[in-house]
Amino acid sequence: FEVVWDASAAEKGGWPSFMAKEVSEEPEAVANTIRGRIHDGAVVIPELAGMDDLFAGIRRVIIIACGTAAYAGQTGKYALEQWTRVPVDVELAHEFRYRDPVIGEDTLVVSISQSGETMDTLMAVKYARERGAKTLSICNTQGATIPRESDAVVYTHAGPEVAVASTKAFVAQITALYLLALHIGRVRGVLSGAESADHVRELEAVPPKISRVLAEEQAHIEQFSRWMADTQSVLFLGRHVGYPIALEGALKLKEISYIHAEGFAAGELKHGPIALIEPGQPVFVIVPSPRESAELHKKVVSNIQEIRARGARVIVVAEEGDAAVLPFADEVLRIPLAGPFFEPLLAVVPLHIFAMGLATAKGLDVDQPRNLAKSVTVE
Ligand code: G6P
Repeated sequence: FEVVWDASAAEKGGWPSFMAKEVSEEPEAVANTIRGRIHDGAVVIPELAGMDDLFAGIRRVIIIACGTAAYAGQTGKYALEQWTRVPVDVELAHEFRYRDPVIGEDTLVVSISQSGETMDTLMAVKYARERGAKTLSICNTQGATIPRESDAVVYTHAGPEVAVASTKAFVAQITALYLLALHIGRVRGVLSGAESADHVRELEAVPPKISRVLAEEQAHIEQFSRWMADTQSVLFLGRHVGYPIALEGALKLKEISYIHAEGFAAGELKHGPIALIEPGQPVFVIVPSPRESAELHKKVVSNIQEIRARGARVIVVAEEGDAAVLPFADEVLRIPLAGPFFEPLLAVVPLHIFAMGLATAKGLDVDQPRNLAKSVTVE
């Protein structure tokens, strides 16, 4: 009798891939990033002790990152701006550095990197520092180079991420940005204690809601991703915080299933992308909550009608109870009710599952996609 020990299978803890394991850990990635940073309903980030004067004095925030981390930045921008009333720009690290950006001592440059080693991001952080900006790193890897080169660091506690395509780190990065935004919003007196406590409650409610999406939608999504194994192209539409989620959904599909995928702002549809719609074209639409924003919801539903009239195969990601989407959807993926800034943390989960399901249906290695590296340490 011989026990064959497969170290890699053991590390996957029974999951078929690291990516599957890491998607299943999205609830913990959020919960662990929050843990120890909430006291009596207020955000307290020990790593940022002594920085309140700096936060009170900043006039501008620039978020820099690459890949999925940049989409986490784009998602976080909405709440960061809303809760702090400081203008926030999000820029790809490699673009930022080569355009002589206007930065100074009152600029806070927030870098986001899972590995903390991405060369483009590292060089942009050094560049910002040399020009006098204050730098804060959101990073998942203790002691990595980018946090060491930054004035401050807020770690995401997603745990080690092995699959090349980033999943649990993405939700942890948005969580860390929200904690930072709530802290700066309080320091600057934009948010009251009660408002901040409300947002904290919403954030703390996210992990069990992600668990519900996984429990209730995973089998359904895997099933229809198998039917879609021959698909040549998939489009993703979103508005407001749903827009960067559409970009992330498209990126994940490109990365691991090698399918042409594009994310668009839903409002941009009539300015070009609608020309791509022909009968049978699959389009994912991230639908905003009708409770939180009736106006945005109405606009997205009208976008759905426009593409449906041209024969698109419409797959919606919509809040539970949203019946307005039903007449126009071929597939409905449900997410639990959440506040407007918290929906993306739920809406992205079905897109991660879909990319994984499609790549698996095509017989591809989801953990090690061709041509890509987990951490790109060259410029
Ligand atoms: C590579 C990976 C992506 C990742 C990006 C940024 O391109 O393939 O999954 O999003 O780098 O990585 P970082 O470690 O800086 O978050």
